[in-house]
Amino acid sequence: MRSYSLLAPAKINLYLGIVGDRPDGFHELVMVLQSIGLADRVTITETTQPGIHLTCSDSEVPQDDTNLAYKAADLIYQRFPEVAKRQSGVSIAIDKQIPMGAGLAGGSADCAAVLVGMDLLWDLGLTQSELQTLAAELGSDIPFCVGGGTALATGRGELLDPLPDLDNLHLVLAKYRDLPVSTPWAYQTFRRTFGTEYPTTPDAFIAKQQALRSSQMLRAIADRNPDAIAQHLYNDLERVVLPEYPQVQALRDRFEAFGAMGTMMSGSGSTVFALCKTASQAEGLKIQMESAFNDPDLELWVTQFRSTGIQIL
Ligand code: C5P
Repeated sequence: MRSYSLLAPAKINLYLGIVGDRPDGFHELVMVLQSIGLADRVTITETTQPGIHLTCSDSEVPQDDTNLAYKAADLIYQRFPEVAKRQSGVSIAIDKQIPMGAGLAGGSADCAAVLVGMDLLWDLGLTQSELQTLAAELGSDIPFCVGGGTALATGRGELLDPLPDLDNLHLVLAKYRDLPVSTPWAYQTFRRTFGTEYPTTPDAFIAKQQALRSSQMLRAIADRNPDAIAQHLYNDLERVVLPEYPQVQALRDRFEAFGAMGTMMSGSGSTVFALCKTASQAEGLKIQMESAFNDPDLELWVTQFRSTGIQIL
């Protein structure tokens, strides 16, 4: 039986700017996405038993057809019916390390890994761009998870332009185990609260898009300047998530007080990350956070930027 194991890295948002509403009901975004070392491991294996079989090391993760990883395999079955006829079943085993409801794209990373794994298992010969087109049907940040690295993401988040690698930065992630944030809730609350600020004419829309695209963050990345990157971290969704969840604000405040280079919530939260120049600074910051909060519900990780997405192991 053929089998592939894949590493599925999490992402953080170094920048998340909301332009306004799109006709499809989503938000038009300008984001800088960055892959990090924290990763799930996804193993995909041919089985004689027909159908898609999903298991996960974390029993809280849905193991049925609502899981994005299941949907990815199902999409491949539907799109390649001739190949599917010659195949039997597949089993997908997820070793979960990335927390859920965290703003780290854990589910999207697993989904991207299954697309890459199915392509290998069935010898489909899909290009990265073909995989990313399929990925966009399943969710906005799944195309990024396929290729990973550092990228400018626009549109719903699915249009990607590569940016220079920033593999020299380290970070600490902090998340309360029992505090997930729903992404649809965050965007809907943003629209309800700040929708009156959205551009109402095509010209105003384009002008705002251009303004966000010429942010200082993109200059800092082009210059590969860690201090400037740390200084220009930005996330519009903090405007709705932090007032609703004071615990998340408290993590951010502590990171700042302990002298992190820069700190920000990732995506729709609830993870907060803090950038550090060296691995030992990151380890030191993690220890300071552990003793300041002394809370078994608070999870902390030390990791670093990485320059690739899904990797075959
Ligand atoms: O695409 P994905 O399934 O990750 O999006 C989850 C939810 O986040 C969407 O249903 C939508 O409410 C919100 N969203 C949005 N605009 C985007 C991406 C996501 O409003 N560009």
